[in-house]
Amino acid sequence: MKKIAVIGSLNIDLVSRVPYFLRPGETLQGLSFHTFMGGKGGNQAVAVARLTPGVSMLGMLGDDQNGLAYHKYLEEQGVNNQAVGIAKNSISGTAVIEVDDSTGDNRIIYHPGANLLLNDMHIQTHLLQIMDHDIFLFQLETPIDTVEKTMKVLFEAGKTTILDPAPAVTLSRDFLSYASFITPNETELSILTGLPTDDEDQLYKAGEALLQKGARAIIIKAGKQGAYYIDSNQRFAAKGFTVKAVDTTAAGDSFNAGFATAFSRGEALPQALRYANAVAALSTLKTGAQPAMPTTQQVESFLSSYHEID
Ligand code: RIB
Repeated sequence: MKKIAVIGSLNIDLVSRVPYFLRPGETLQGLSFHTFMGGKGGNQAVAVARLTPGVSMLGMLGDDQNGLAYHKYLEEQGVNNQAVGIAKNSISGTAVIEVDDSTGDNRIIYHPGANLLLNDMHIQTHLLQIMDHDIFLFQLETPIDTVEKTMKVLFEAGKTTILDPAPAVTLSRDFLSYASFITPNETELSILTGLPTDDEDQLYKAGEALLQKGARAIIIKAGKQGAYYIDSNQRFAAKGFTVKAVDTTAAGDSFNAGFATAFSRGEALPQALRYANAVAALSTLKTGAQPAMPTTQQVESFLSSYHEID
């Protein structure tokens, strides 16, 4: 089986559940407040660890209490943390998250902190430690130039690179070409292409436009609708699963982890997308990015017992 590594961000998430999203100038009493381990990179690594053994993380934490706790926690979760640095006199990345209590939707403000120190030097020092891995997951919460250079090295070395373009910014043709798969959600796809992505037809058109801009294969994450796949030879949809979402934070991260895991087992793309949809759906069933991320057994039992709700 192929081994998976994650190169990316680690944040501490400060999460308030709210009766509705704040309006300008408003002060609102939250319904609950929790602190969770998060960050798109950390979420993807922990989500993979729940599904398959042998995942490694390359990232950067601060030397504050949160950073030290997160470093230890990664190991406890089954993530190899040898390539996760602890930067002196730095604070760890932090995200302030509002979750709408009735829909589970979220809004996130992100402060990168030590994630900004995941630079060329740190990568050069530690990349060799994870070069025996086969599939590499990236996001854009760490310095973008370094993400591009690292993806280039790995792609040219024949590795599979999966880019979650979040937070979304427009990317050059070269950058796009270093991703074996790019996995935007609808909003990110719209930012990457400048096109509307409000319905299936628009999603496919925007996906085609991203192919024209240099992307090789695009997996569009469309939440409960599921996912859409587009490359130069084929396009298809993988229907999503209906669940009662409590918190959608990191559903996209869980999707990428699910896809990478199924792909690492050699599953065909439609099956890998179905598996990823299931992992994402299950990850929304509790508050916080990581608490509901499912194990392999939970995904298998969900997939075998799921019945369409009309
Ligand atoms: O994708 C969800 C993540 O985005 C949160 O855990 C938060 O840390 C932000 O990075």
